[in-house]
Amino acid sequence: MTELTLTTKNVARIQADAVVVAVGQRGEEPRLVPGAELPSAVVKELSALLPALGVTGKADEVVRVAAGKELAADVIVLTGVGPVEDSGPDLETLRRAAGAATRVLAGTSDVALALPADTPERVGAVAEGALLGAYSFDRYRTKQRGPVARVELVTDLARSKAAKATHERAVVVAGAVARVRDLVNTSPADLYPQSFAEEATAAAKGTKVKVTVLDEKELEAGGYGGLIGVGKGSARPPRLVKLSYSPARAKAHVGLVGKGITFDSGGLSIKPAKGMETMKMDMAGAATVLHTVLAAAALELPVRVTGWLALAENMPSGTAQRPSDVITIRGGKTVEVLNTDAEGRLVMADALVAATEESPDTIIDIATLTGAQMVALGSQVGAVMGTDDVREEVVAAAAEAGEQFWPMPLPAELAESMKSQVADISNMGDRFGGMLVAGLFLKEFVGDTPWAHLDIAGPAYNEGKPRGYIHEGGTGTGLRTLLTVLERAAAR
Ligand code: BES
Ligand code: MN
Ligand code: ZN
Repeated sequence: MTELTLTTKNVARIQADAVVVAVGQRGEEPRLVPGAELPSAVVKELSALLPALGVTGKADEVVRVAAGKELAADVIVLTGVGPVEDSGPDLETLRRAAGAATRVLAGTSDVALALPADTPERVGAVAEGALLGAYSFDRYRTKQRGPVARVELVTDLARSKAAKATHERAVVVAGAVARVRDLVNTSPADLYPQSFAEEATAAAKGTKVKVTVLDEKELEAGGYGGLIGVGKGSARPPRLVKLSYSPARAKAHVGLVGKGITFDSGGLSIKPAKGMETMKMDMAGAATVLHTVLAAAALELPVRVTGWLALAENMPSGTAQRPSDVITIRGGKTVEVLNTDAEGRLVMADALVAATEESPDTIIDIATLTGAQMVALGSQVGAVMGTDDVREEVVAAAAEAGEQFWPMPLPAELAESMKSQVADISNMGDRFGGMLVAGLFLKEFVGDTPWAHLDIAGPAYNEGKPRGYIHEGGTGTGLRTLLTVLERAAAR
């Protein structure tokens, strides 16, 4: 993992491979954005050369130039922050600019950041962005490349207590996001319900998080018909993992529930080959819940958190559930399974009921639940549905964390489309508003617990080009929002 330290050193004397400097836009003109102080000659020469170097200062632009003899470093990396006001770039812009630079510099040993870091919040944002960008997933490569090895963040606040705290938080957050990405990127041949549960147990070892795993026999005995039904087509049986973090003097109790389909083939309602290619990512919600609970414990937040990972592999086989099978969810509600590819809501229903049994103050679930989520909001914005107050709290926390989540309704009239001829409800409804239908299905299983549902089908996995601190594949989107919800509850 990348090592990041705060320093008050003179940038000119740091013997790094690269020094990262921000460039913004004033009108149409590129402008250096003041960060840690550079020699005035460097600022003057560089500023004059920006247009000729083709530097525009737009967000996500990273340009490398020779550093010249005024600096001990070899290279100056110009990272774009887009249009800048007098107040300077906002926190998420800083994260992205820092992350774009460290991402592009993968393989480099020593990088110095001369970015705006004049407040503890900015130190935290630059550190978080830089560490999120410094990620690489090399598990299956014979030639390891690795991220940037060492980052020095230059700031006058290197010895300030507040900046040390935001720095420490950034290390925890970026580490947690990286572990979510690792799980999402792992081949489904290696990550299946049992191995996922073992990873969770191992990750919690030595922390204040207690892990309980229910295996297929215990699930059967406990009436978890959703997990059993979805999992029975696979040679690798389902699991329900419970994570408990119970600090003394907790301000609140939050239940977190994550969808953990380790591979979604669609089951007998099988997906076309193209639609299956990315379906190892269908456990992103569960990975996010696991590492949110662990991060809350690492930060010693005074909030009780109970996490639930609903783990199953959705496969077609002679033992698979059939379209028209009727299953019974934990707690007794029956569901007619009309489409085995709408499996997420079935395993989530079991886990949501389990979560309500502990009477938390709120429940938040997170799932790569519907393709319709991407139709509605595209691939970078997540959806939030649920009880008005919890939904708005999640939206506010997301804005604070720098993640994009947008509120969506749960129109009661759509629920009628899930009527079943034979059971209490079916797992299919109107195709239009498919994301809302799935949300309405989950709503049936939370009782009167205040609740929010996050659909991250789009933002959990980047099928496009890398951008900012986001790499290809798993993104870890949702973790920062959930952790911020917990921090806000702790501060109340
Ligand atoms: N895991 C998928 C949703 C998904 C699709 C996530 C694409 C990320 C990218 C989910 O289990 C699914 O297959 N949903 C169906 C529901 C339908 C059958 C009602 C869908 O969205 O097509
Ligand atoms: Mn599916
Ligand atoms: Zn799925």
